[in-house]
Order: sequence, then structure tokens, then C-alpha cells
Amino acid sequence: MSIHTSAAPETVAARIADIVRRQPKAHSLHQALYDSPEAFQHDMERIFLRHWILAGHESSAPNPGDWFLHEMAEESIIIMRGKDGRLRAFVNVCRHRGSRICRTATGHASVLVCPYHAWSYELDGSLRAARHMPADFDKSSHGLKPIHLEVIEGLVFISLAEKPLSLDAARSAISAAYGAYGWGSAKVAQRETYVVAANWKLAVENYLECYHCTPAHPEYSKLHALERPLEEIADLNAAMEARSRALGVKVPGIDHRVASSTGEASVFTFRYALYDGVKTGAPDGKPVAPLMGDFGDYDGGVTSTHFAPSSFFIAYPDHGVLYRFLPLAPKSSILELVWLVRGDARESEDYDLDKLTWLWKVTSEADKRITEDAQKGVSSRFYEPGPYSPTEPNAIAWIAWYLSEIA
Ligand code: FES
Ligand SMILES: [Fe+2]
Repeated sequence: MSIHTSAAPETVAARIADIVRRQPKAHSLHQALYDSPEAFQHDMERIFLRHWILAGHESSAPNPGDWFLHEMAEESIIIMRGKDGRLRAFVNVCRHRGSRICRTATGHASVLVCPYHAWSYELDGSLRAARHMPADFDKSSHGLKPIHLEVIEGLVFISLAEKPLSLDAARSAISAAYGAYGWGSAKVAQRETYVVAANWKLAVENYLECYHCTPAHPEYSKLHALERPLEEIADLNAAMEARSRALGVKVPGIDHRVASSTGEASVFTFRYALYDGVKTGAPDGKPVAPLMGDFGDYDGGVTSTHFAPSSFFIAYPDHGVLYRFLPLAPKSSILELVWLVRGDARESEDYDLDKLTWLWKVTSEADKRITEDAQKGVSSRFYEPGPYSPTEPNAIAWIAWYLSEIA
């Protein structure tokens, strides 16, 4: 047992609860929570097997037979569109002897065939054929295991929980905000994946604060007022909201950050201004793709959502960005970025892929570097939890939420 604690409780859960009790408020986490295999397994059970997770945008599987994978730690989930047009999710584990069935990030099939002994599955997950099995073999009880799936404004959420949390409040928050941006009919323009040599929580904490934006992200900071403390940008935010109202666009901010003990998913949507004259998150702040949804013009604003535990959405009037952090191993995680544009936008003609993806690529590469440096530091025998700045309120709130989830 590698959880570093002076007490000797019998179970991992009791050891974690002990760490949580000793965790100083508004500080970075105890070292064991960033690097021990036991804490990682505990995170999987309490966080990733309990909460809804963003799996992607449904335009990644537009036609019957299209599928894409959602992978985290040892789990792999197939998100597949059926012959009836419905999107479903299944565990990517063959019901014969457990082989992975789909082996690439995306694909298309009219029937799923396991590469091991060729059991085949229909697009609705039911077992279609199994070679040389006895006459009394019950095919109907050997379909792929289904996973809960919901689509909100084109965003695909999955839950590996037996009884998933309620998405009611999250659904209305996400529909209200991203309906205005037309995300339900958007399409994926690009998907980029980074492996980050750091615990998934270091990556999430880093995303949640902009205290590091000025030193680490000159490109972002030139465009987005959020690089400064909120009280300093109140006037810019008020002017942005006035422009949105004048355009007749309604994008409500909603703070529904709740513990899973309420039975509900946690979501937080807020808006902030771009600097004067900046239209969107792109080189020089100039338009980069066709306007989306209700936006007849640029309002100089950004809509940002934190969907606990580790999914984030950013909307500009002409494109969107989905951010997902997924655990791989105690000191390794995946950062996946997805860029959305209007459904009918054509690459090269309506948008330039390099310009569209430049800002968040350069920002994510810097984030990967600083997060990996943070992991090296927190793994040192000299590390101890350090105090957050008051200018990191979202990270402070998330840490408190996380601790209550794992306690
Ligand atoms: S493990 Fe899939 S057919 Fe044998
Ligand atoms: Fe960053």
C-alpha cells in the first residue's frame, strides 16, 4: 500500500478519508492523491464510474454503422450509430472471452466482428452469430453490455454508473447556452489528442485557473480578458453582455455546482469578454469560420462550461472547442481537444484549419508542459500542499468538490 499516511486504516477508502480530513483548505492536494495507484483506482470508482463524462460530438458518427471510442484507464466504450439512426454506447469487451472488438479511434461497420474468434454483433449490440457454439447456447443473453448515453445539443455524454446521476439541470443549462450557438447541428472540424505525463487532476486544476495565463499563455492573454482577475474586467464583461442583448442572443450563465450526493450532475456555465476589437479565439482575433446558431454578428464574448468532473466546453460565435481530460494511469492522462464549426461549413473554403486550431493547440502544448512540470514537483519527497491564490476560485471550488466526492 503506497498511500502515505501515518494512520493505518484497513481499507483504501478509509485511508483516503483520512487524507481528506488532513487536507488543508484551498491548497493543492496531498501527494498520494496525485501519484498513488490506490488513489487512482479510488478516483476511477468514485469519479469516473459514477459521473457523466463527455464522450464527444455526435457528428463524429453521422451515419448508421459509424462509431468512435471513448477510452479511459482500462475501460473502452464504443459509441455507435444504429440502423435506426440512434446513437448507443457499449462496453468494448467481447462476450466470448473478453477481447477488445473495435481497435481504432473511429470506424465504420455494418456488423461488428470480434477479431479473436469472429463472434459478430449487430449495430444495436445484440449478438448476431457465434461460430461452433452448442445448440442450447443462448445468444440473446450475450449481447454487448450497454452503457447509458444522452445527447444534449449534439454533445454525447456517457455514464458507466448502474444508476446514473440526473442530467435534468445540466440539460437545461447546456441547451440554453449551446443551443444559442447552434451546436446541435455543428460538425467536428478537428480532433487532437495529447498524452500528458501527469495525474488527471493536475491537468484539470490547471485548466480551471487563469492565474497562469499571463506567464504561460501570451497568445491567449492577448485576446481574452479572463487573464485578469474578475473584478478588474467587470466593465468589459458588462459591455460584452450589452452587445449580446443588442444582437438578441440569450446565453444564460448557470452555476449548478453540486455534489453527486444530491443525485445530480454538476455544471457551471459563465461568460467573459474578449478584449476590445477581438472577435474570436484566433490569430489577431479575426473571424475564422461562419457564424453559428443565433449569432448574426460577433458579441466579443466567450461562453465557458465546466462539466464535472473533467469535461469543458468553450464557445465563440464562429466555432467551439471541447476539452476532455481522461485518466490513463496515476501519472498519465489524456487531453483531447475537439473543434466544432457550423454543420455546413467547408474546410478551406469557409475556414482554414490551421487558423481555426492555432490558439488552443499552442495553449494546450504549453499546458501539457507546465502540467508535466507540476507532476515532477509534486512527486518530490519535499513537496507539500501549497496555498491557492484567491484569483483561482474555480480551482479552489473544484478541489473542495473533488475531496467531498472521494471522502
Ligand atoms: S473473444 Fe471475441 S470472439 Fe472470442
Ligand atoms: Fe493553461
